[in-house]
Amino acid sequence: MKNLIDILELSTEELDELIALAEDIIARPEKYRESCRYKKLATLFFEPSTRTRLSFEAAMYELGGQVLSVSSGSSSSAAKGESVADTAKTVSCYADIIAMRHPKEGAPLVAAMNATVPVINAGDGGHNHPTQTLADLLTIWREKGRITGLTIGLCGDLKFGRTVHSLIAAMARYPGNRFVLISPEELKLPSYVKKDVLKNRNIPYTQTTDLEGALPELDILYMTRVQRERFFNEEDYLRLKDSYILTPEKLEKASKTLSILHPLPRVNEISVGVDADPRAVYFKQVLNGKYMRMALILKMLEVEV
Ligand code: NCD
Repeated sequence: MKNLIDILELSTEELDELIALAEDIIARPEKYRESCRYKKLATLFFEPSTRTRLSFEAAMYELGGQVLSVSSGSSSSAAKGESVADTAKTVSCYADIIAMRHPKEGAPLVAAMNATVPVINAGDGGHNHPTQTLADLLTIWREKGRITGLTIGLCGDLKFGRTVHSLIAAMARYPGNRFVLISPEELKLPSYVKKDVLKNRNIPYTQTTDLEGALPELDILYMTRVQRERFFNEEDYLRLKDSYILTPEKLEKASKTLSILHPLPRVNEISVGVDADPRAVYFKQVLNGKYMRMALILKMLEVEV
């Protein structure tokens, strides 16, 4: 695996291997403590991040490696007008592997085409976010004991939510999964995702605006934040931002074995009253993200353990 730009670059066998490796890391962390000694990860984040950047960095430290970090565009030469290609060539001189987040769709791909070390897409605009999907898959696996035969509801901003696009692409390749797409009309899943990932491959899905109506049939509920930074005008955002607010009362209609995921950050879409519900697993998902990023770094650096 040279780069990870799109989750579809990983076969389901490779995804299963990453999950198995993450499970081994969880069970035997001491075995991996020196695995990346003398290796450096560069995190280049040109958009805000808490979990993704810090979990990549924690992952590398826990593997015994070191980290170089650009945590905002304004603190690097990008602010002087340097291209993504030149940045990638430069950082390749210092680091063994790069994780990049960028507001422009395709920027990590351009970086990968110019870097001489592996590049991981840590989120590109409203497009993809493959390593969040790795966190989501490990969470589903650990909660359900399988990634197959599930009814997955995705709720909120399905248009701009890059985590949604990558998760649907991954889950659609495992047999027996079906999707319930819950969003306001204006924030529906982009037609390219619907066509390429679902329709062309005869994956069952339904679309609705009604969260409460959909809840009883779901095994997984994946809530998302309305992506303010991708809107063209603030008025539209303000009108749509509170379209869905999950509360303990609404959850009374849901299955006792539902798992509630959210890539975070949350704004209003899950009330804090839900956090104590054992079905709420979004903070476990945060921790799972670190373990899957550890597994990914080991695979991409081809470290023998
Ligand atoms: C997500 C992202 O950046 O796309 N956050 C994350 O990486 N955990 C989701 C979001 O920002 O809404």
